[in-house]
Amino acid sequence: MARSGKATVIGAGFYGSTTAQRMAEYDIFDEVVLTDIRDGWSEGLALDLNSSRPVEGFETRVIGKTTTADGQGYEVIEDSEVVVVTAGVPRKPGMSRMDLLGVNAGIVRGVAENIARYAPNAVIIVVSNPLDEMTTLTQIASGFPHHRVMGQAGVLDTARFTYFVADKLGLPVGAVKTLTLGSHGDTMVPVASACTVNINGQVKLLAEVLPQADIDALVTRVRGGGAEVVALLKTGSAYYAPSAAAARMARAVATDSGEVVPVCAWLTGQYGISDVYLGVEATLGKAGVKEIVERQISDSELTQLQEAGAAVKSKAADVANM
Ligand code: APR
Repeated sequence: MARSGKATVIGAGFYGSTTAQRMAEYDIFDEVVLTDIRDGWSEGLALDLNSSRPVEGFETRVIGKTTTADGQGYEVIEDSEVVVVTAGVPRKPGMSRMDLLGVNAGIVRGVAENIARYAPNAVIIVVSNPLDEMTTLTQIASGFPHHRVMGQAGVLDTARFTYFVADKLGLPVGAVKTLTLGSHGDTMVPVASACTVNINGQVKLLAEVLPQADIDALVTRVRGGGAEVVALLKTGSAYYAPSAAAARMARAVATDSGEVVPVCAWLTGQYGISDVYLGVEATLGKAGVKEIVERQISDSELTQLQEAGAAVKSKAADVANM
């Protein structure tokens, strides 16, 4: 595949730097830009990443740039087709993602305003937490149409679910299909009714191979999947699986792939939910979210999804004023 275009990652911490690395290693972009407010940090990482190109065999150039909160340096992101926002503070053990709301809102608002100024045609993928609220705020602060602002959560939560099921059953991850919808927080909806496993060529529902108590335990583990990593790391939060998820979404946008992925997207009546950012399945392409895909889920999963929508919506007015 020929290389083309430019992608940007804002925030060069653990999540941002690994996302930039993955996107550069895809070798599909002309340039991957990495920015941070830490003086020299992005430039240093770019030098290091570019020096890995002869070993890993990719030609995508990585550009590192120190920026300021008031927008100095942001000209480097001009003409980016996709921008991943990772700027912000991660959790510490015992914190919920919502505990980051106040501090990250200030950071994300400023970042979104600068993206709107310097890359007004970009698709934005938000990963900063609390995810659903930061995606809402990014759309408001950028003024972009809703389809060009989305959040990363479902690809990650689904990947965790798949891994946990595969690990429990001793299966390859490729033999397991799972799905999570809803928020990237307490009202996450792991959709157990949509989960299948392929055992020796036979595709079965999860409920056919595991007792309900085990499925419930897996669902609980998925909801706390991020916190489990935070508790072990003691400082900082997960970034290998999160960056894999964000980079994959950026690739789907840049290549106009049309693939269906779980993503935090703006709802306009799907599942009986409107006017809120929430995790659902959608096709992705150059325009961002092309189409939201609704599927049959159980009545209790639908109720949980609607409750998740109501919970995110209840914060929307606060978020708009942050
Ligand atoms: N502009 C650009 N970068 C910023 C800004 C800003 N205004 N404010 C902070 N940053 C940078 C920090 O300097 C730091 O390098 O964001 C980076 C965050 O990196 P880490 O502290 O390593 O956090 P990380 O694990 O990458 O998580 C980032 O993703 O998963 C979420 O909850 C997590 O909100 C957090 C975000």
